[in-house]
Order: sequence, then structure tokens, then C-alpha cells
Amino acid sequence: MKAWIAGTGSYAPARVLTNAELERMVATSDEWIRERTGIRERRIAATGEACSDLAAQAGKRALTAAGLAATDLDMILLATCTGDYPLPATACLVQHQLGATKAAACDLSAACCGFVYALSVADAYVKSGMRHVLVIGSEVMSAITDWTDRNTCVLFGDGAGAIVVSASDGERGILSTHLRSDGALCELIMVPGGGSRTPPSEKVLAERLQYIKMKGNETFKVAVRTLEEIARTTLTANGLRVEDLDLYVPHQANMRILKAVMDRLGLPIEKVLLNLDRYGNTSAASIPIALDEAVREGRIKDGSLVMLGAFGAGLTWASALIRW
Ligand code: UT7
Repeated sequence: MKAWIAGTGSYAPARVLTNAELERMVATSDEWIRERTGIRERRIAATGEACSDLAAQAGKRALTAAGLAATDLDMILLATCTGDYPLPATACLVQHQLGATKAAACDLSAACCGFVYALSVADAYVKSGMRHVLVIGSEVMSAITDWTDRNTCVLFGDGAGAIVVSASDGERGILSTHLRSDGALCELIMVPGGGSRTPPSEKVLAERLQYIKMKGNETFKVAVRTLEEIARTTLTANGLRVEDLDLYVPHQANMRILKAVMDRLGLPIEKVLLNLDRYGNTSAASIPIALDEAVREGRIKDGSLVMLGAFGAGLTWASALIRW
């Protein structure tokens, strides 16, 4: 028995923030952002639009694609680092918005790797008896972005993507998942204030500690190494070669990181889903948004061999191999 992807969906807020607008906010240029990151524009949630709102839209679309009702769901797993509230879990708000009255719901926190981690949890739940699990990656990164910090504010965007993971007797489905972490590198990407270590205070606000901080250059190097490593581990575990892949769907953080990974793996660009030019880095939402685009554009078809690869704060890195 396997867990397979029965449907995908995504949602992006209407507001587009261009590089030209960022030029008017911080000392940056469209040219620098495009050359160093590959990003042209990103979406930004409307005032009052929170993580659960984006997640519910993406979830509804995934349920429609799977031909299921919300009441068919046994579980909702929401990967996010920008939930509506510190408490309760945002997944419960999504469960209520969807009317998924029979579903349990909880959040999973693994930053940009959150979706792949949640996928692996859904895989295990389905293999142990659940029928339908809704896995969502949803982020309002604009809420934790310091719009005065050019090192980070040009990178992130908002959005949500979702998939329904269902039980299947066939050969298709999730072939393997691979999860890694290294907390020794926790300071490379961090929101230092607002948690139990440094609770909210005037000092936190004055020092802007409620916003994301990143050592971009150091992160870059670890990202290239670990993405390559985990991709090779995944292929080896399944007795497959890079040439066997139909599509690689990586976390969309930086075009130069992805080009370096493609070079090292010998993966041609036609076999890589790239959409960060339009969304920027949407953290846990980036892979499910990309998956949904690939399915809707016909780049993923029944039988396609698809590899996911993610990297992010923690540090964490993760991959999955799926026979669609
Ligand atoms: O999703 C989680 C994982 N995150 C990542 O994977 C992010 C990984 N890192 C990156 O994507 C890249 O490191 C960045 C895009 C963040 C930065 O690119 P970089 O080539 O590593 O630049 P850098 O940090 O080494 O900075 C180079 C220069 C610096 O100026 P000096 O010191 O050489 O004078 C920066 O101050 O670029 C400057 N700079 C900027 N200039 C214009 C940094 N940000 C900007 C900016 N506009 N927005």
C-alpha cells in the first residue's frame, strides 16, 4: 500500500510587489535582485489576510482537484512559520474554515522544509490507516519581514500550496522521504525575538528582533551542499539515477543556489520547476505552489517521477521521491 497525491491546489494573494517598488523602499536595484536571486516580483497578503486564509483557499482547491469533500479528511497538517497566532495551531482555523468536521489538525514547524516534513508525516499516517490527509504549506512571510533590511526584504513572499495525500493500492505514490537537521547552525536563519527565549517587549520591538535575520552567504554554501547530498541519497535509496527523473521541484530560495545544484547533479534546466521569479521565497509554501503549477501546466502527468528538495532554517533539509 502507498500514499499518493490525489490532488493539488494553490493560492497567491492578489497584490504583486515588484523589484521597482523595493528600489523605492531600501538601497537596492532591480538588477541586483534579479542577478543575485532570480526574483522579479512576489505576492503580498492584504491587510487582515492571514496564514489560515491563504491555507484554506489552497486547501479547497486541492480538495476539488482530488474530488473530495472536506468531511472526507482525517487530518490536516499545516506547515508554516507564520501562523495566525502563537496559539492555537493555525491548522485548526483552517479545519473550521473548510468545514472538515472529522479531521484532526495541527501545525508543523520546520521552516522552508516544513512541507516536505509534513508530507513524510502524512505518508506515515496514511500507511498506518488514515485515508485522506490534507498537507498545506502556507506563509505570510511579509509579517516577519523587516522592510528596512535590504539583506532580507527583497527575498520573501506570501502564498500557500496544498495537496491531498490518500491511500492507494497501486504502484504510484510517495516512494521515499528523507529528512535531516543540524541545530548547531540555528543562528544562520532566525527570528530572534517574540518566543520564550526573548518574549515580546519594547526592547524586542526597538531592536526589530521580531523579524527574520539571515546570514545569507553562509546559508547559501550549506544549501548547495546539502541539496546535492540529499538528492543523491534519495536516488541511491531507490536504485535510480538523475536521468530517470522527470521533474525536480526544489524549494525556491535563490536561482544561483539552484543553478549550482543542477550543475553538480548534471540535471538539465528543462527538468527543474522554477517559479521564484514570480513568487520569491515563500518558505514552506514554495514546493506545493510549484507542484500545483507543474500539475496544471501538464509538466507532471500520471507516471511522472518527481523529486522534491528543500532547505531552510533549523537548519533543516529534506527530500521526497514521488511516482505521480
Ligand atoms: O529559504 C531559506 C534558505 N535561504 C537561502 O537559501 C538564502 C541563501 N542566501 C542567498 O540567497 C544569498 O546569500 C543572498 C541573495 C541573500 C545574498 O547574496 P550574496 O551574493 O550572498 O550577497 P552577500 O550577502 O555576500 O552580499 C554582497 C553585497 C554586500 O555588499 P558589500 O559588503 O559587498 O559591499 C551586501 O551588502 O551585496 C550587498 N547587498 C545588497 N545590495 C543591493 C545585500 N543585499 C542587497 C540588496 N541590494 N538587496
